[in-house]
Formats: sequence, C-alpha cells, structure tokens
Amino acid sequence: KKVKLIEVRSELGAGTRGASMGIDALRVAGWDKGSDYFRRFNSVSVPDLNYTLFDKDLFPNAHHIDSILAVHKNVANTVEQTIAMDMFPLVLSGDHSNAHGTIAGIKAAYPDKTLGVIWIDAHADIHSPYTSPSGNVHGMPVAAALNIDNLERQINDPAPETIFFWNSLKKLGIDGPKLEPKHLVYIVVRDTEEPEDYLLAKHGIRNFTYAELNERGVAQIVADALELLQDCDIIYVSFDVDSLDSKFSKGTGTPVEVGLTVEQAKELNYLLLQDPRIVCYEMTEINPTLDTENTMAENAFDILEAATEAILHRESKSTAIY
Ligand code: ARG
Ligand code: MN
Ligand code: MN
Ligand code: MN
Repeated sequence: KKVKLIEVRSELGAGTRGASMGIDALRVAGWDKGSDYFRRFNSVSVPDLNYTLFDKDLFPNAHHIDSILAVHKNVANTVEQTIAMDMFPLVLSGDHSNAHGTIAGIKAAYPDKTLGVIWIDAHADIHSPYTSPSGNVHGMPVAAALNIDNLERQINDPAPETIFFWNSLKKLGIDGPKLEPKHLVYIVVRDTEEPEDYLLAKHGIRNFTYAELNERGVAQIVADALELLQDCDIIYVSFDVDSLDSKFSKGTGTPVEVGLTVEQAKELNYLLLQDPRIVCYEMTEINPTLDTENTMAENAFDILEAATEAILHRESKSTAIY
C-alpha cells in the first residue's frame, strides 16, 4: 500500500489565523532538515475556502460553518477515493475541524466496518454549537462524528441557519453516528470545558492523562488504547500538535502546558501506527505565524516521519512496494 498525502489548508475552524500555512511550514522544516520526505509521496490538495474568513460571519455559535461544510465534503470525497484506490490517506490539515471530513470519508469508504478513533490532543473537541464557548468549529469535530448535540448542557441558542448547517455536517459520510462513544479514546486531553466533562463522564469515554502516560510509559498506554478498541475493524488516529507540551508547540493556536515531549509523541505515533487496523492518520493545528523560529513545524516533522515510518514498515510486511 502506498501513502498518499492529503493536504487540507482550511483554517476556517480555528479562532486564531495562520494554520493554513502549517503544511508549508512542515515542507520548509523537512527541507531544512535535508529530508526527501515530500518528494517520496504523492500528494493532493483539497481546495480551501479561507477567503470566507474575511466575509461577514453569519454564525456566531459555529463560525463559517457554511464554508466548513463545503470543505468537509471535499475532504471526505478525497479520503474516500484514496482508500478506494487502496492507498493510505495521510492527512496534513490546517485546523482540527477538518478531521470531521476525514472521518466522514473513512465511513463512506467503509460504511459497514466498526470505526475506532484515537484522538491525541490537549482538547476533547466534543462541543456542539449549543455548548461551544468560542463558536470555533475546531472544538466540535468529535461531537459531529458522534452525532451528539449535548442539549443537556446547552449554553447557546444557535440560529436556525446554524442548526441547518450543523445537522448537514453531522450527516456527512453516512447518515447517523459515524462513531460510537465506546470506540473513542483520548490521549493527553487536559483542557476541557464543563459540557465536555459531562459527556466524557456520561459515556465513560477513556482519556489517558499525561500523568498516567508518564507513570506507565508510552508503550503501555498504546497497548491499553488498542486493547480498548478491540471490537473495532478499522481505526483512525488524529494528532493535534497541541498535545505536545506548550514548550514544544509554540506555533499552535491553543497551546496548553504539561503535555507530551517530542520524543514521547514520536514513540506514541510510531507504536500506534504499527497496528494494521489503522486506515488513516492526520496531523493538524500547526500555525507558523505564532512561531518565528519554525520550531513547531520542525518538531511536528520529526513526529510525522516517525508515524510514516511505522506505516511503511507495517505495510512492507504485507503487500506493498514503495
Ligand atoms: N474547547 C475550546 C473551544 O471550543 C478549545 C478548542 C481547541 N481545539 C483545537 N482543535 N485546537 O474553543
Ligand atoms: Mn484538537
Ligand atoms: Mn487541541
Ligand atoms: Mn479551556
């Protein structure tokens, strides 16, 4: 199986501008490190609609959700086609809302398979327009995949137009939940709001904390996470760079203290991606405008190489020639 890079430059879901340039910062980091990474793989770019950031925003509880729906349709189609061509979609994306398009594409390709998701992030991203404190859609992709509104913890009263686009978004890929709460695993989530805490408790969603990871070691966390997903036929891994400690993730919109070191993240991604059930990987939220030395993208590039090496290693054991 060949790796296909899918470049999604949309930053419409983020509250801070600049994540659309994250992919190019990764390319620069690879170049500066003397790597041929970006020459080794085919890539395709999904059209973004970032110019709509400068239009009047009609959706205070889900900024730019009309354009985000259009982007997610393209992301879903591209991911679905990549899987249909028997290639491994490795998604490099601007903001994390795009992950919902990726999940929709995976489910469109595999409607009858049980999907597991491993979400490596400082944030749970499980808000809806009814609960989001910011209205930024990058805080909502997990809820969209789960098809959850969380009306029990409603704090906003979204306009009918917002609800229309939110409901359309949730239907993307397949009509109905694309993911079940018991097939969702978080790693190092540490900055959540109350409506999110409520959902994690209500559905018993497992979060491997940073303290736990440090105490028991990365390999044990990987084994436990994969064990929790033993009923799943296919797995998607989503890596938000703010899962790294803020010392190592200067160039991201929402950095949070007490997170992964670069070495831990490399090991985590490398070990996880050995599992042959993993059908797609995404790296997201690199914002080089917040980072004058490009250290964010340099760290992220090292992690991306480790993740890719694991995919290639695993695939070379089955069919593929690269
Ligand atoms: N929970 C906060 C919000 O909804 C932050 C979300 C940050 N998400 C991210 N993908 N960086 O605004
Ligand atoms: Mn995130
Ligand atoms: Mn995050
Ligand atoms: Mn917070």
